[in-house]
Amino acid sequence: MERNGRHPILELRGISKHFGAVQALSGVDFEVYPGEVVALVGDNGAGKSTLIKAIAGINLPDTGEMIFEGKPVTVRGPRDVTRIGIATVYQDLALCDNLDVVSNLFLGREELDRPVPALDEESMEKRAIQVLSTLSVKLPSVRTQIASLSGGQRQSTAVARSVLWDAKVVLLDEPTAALGVAQTRQVLDLIRRLRDHGLGVVVISHNLADVFDVCDRIVVLRLGRRVADFRVEDARREQVVAAITGADIGILAEDQLNTINEKNEETIS
Ligand SMILES: Nc1ncnc2c1ncn2[C@@H]1O[C@H](COP(=O)(O)OP(=O)(O)OP(=O)(O)O)[C@@H](O)[C@H]1O
Ligand SMILES: [Mg+2]
Repeated sequence: MERNGRHPILELRGISKHFGAVQALSGVDFEVYPGEVVALVGDNGAGKSTLIKAIAGINLPDTGEMIFEGKPVTVRGPRDVTRIGIATVYQDLALCDNLDVVSNLFLGREELDRPVPALDEESMEKRAIQVLSTLSVKLPSVRTQIASLSGGQRQSTAVARSVLWDAKVVLLDEPTAALGVAQTRQVLDLIRRLRDHGLGVVVISHNLADVFDVCDRIVVLRLGRRVADFRVEDARREQVVAAITGADIGILAEDQLNTINEKNEETIS
C-alpha cells in the first residue's frame, strides 16, 4: 500500500494464528513505513504479542504473507527475520546480567549468517560508544555490568543493540511497562531517535499517553482482528479507547471518558 509516494518497509497480509481452540489472530493486515512509529494496542489477549511473535518468526502463522522492502519473505524461524534486518526487543530483554554493556551489544552476533569481520575488544568498545552516543543513550560506562544498570538503561541498551546490528525495523513489546517516569522518558526519546534514523518502529503499549506522545499511527487489535487504524493527529483518545473495548463511542458516558483521560494524564506527568 503506497502512502505519500512511500512504500511500507514491512507489510503483513492476512495473518491468522490459532492455539488449539483459540483464534489468536484472524486475517490481520499490518504495515510500517520507514521513519514511522506505529503503536499496536488492544486489550489483554487481543493478539498483540502473537502478531509480534509471528513477525519475529517465533510463532509461525497458519496463513498470511510477509513482505519486506517490497519482496515476499519466507520465514521459517527467528534467524530468517534477524538476517533481513528486523529486530525484536522483548520485555525480558534477553540481556546477560553478568556481562558488561559491550559484550551484550555484540552477543550472538556470530550467529548471523552474513559475514561480520571479527572484532577485537577495542574496536567493539569503540563501536559500542559510537552507537550509544548517536542514540544519546547515557550509561555510567560501557564496561558496566548489565546487572547494575537501571531498567531504562537496560531497555536502552537492548534497543541500541538492534541499531548496532543494522536493523531497519524494530519491534518493541511493552518497552516501558516496568519503568518509572524518567526512565520511560528516556526510552520514548530513544524511540523517536530510531524514527529520525529512518527505522520503522512498532511499539506495543497499554499506555495511551505514551502512545499519543511518541507514535505516528495507532493500529488497534480486538479479539485477534485489526479493528482500527488511526493517524495520531486525527485521533481522539476516546475513539481509540472505544476501538479497544468495542464500545460504541456514543454510549460511553461523559464521566467515563473523563476518568480515562485523567488516568492517561496521570501517567504522562
Ligand atoms: N503459546 C500460546 N499457547 C496458547 N494460547 C496462546 C499462546 N500465546 C497466546 N495465546 C492466546 O492467544 C490470545 C492472544 O494472546 P496475546 O499474548 O497475543 O495477547 P496480547 O494482546 O499480547 O495480550 P497482553 O496485553 O495481555 O499481553 C490469548 O487468548 C492467549 O491466551
Ligand atoms: Mg502481550
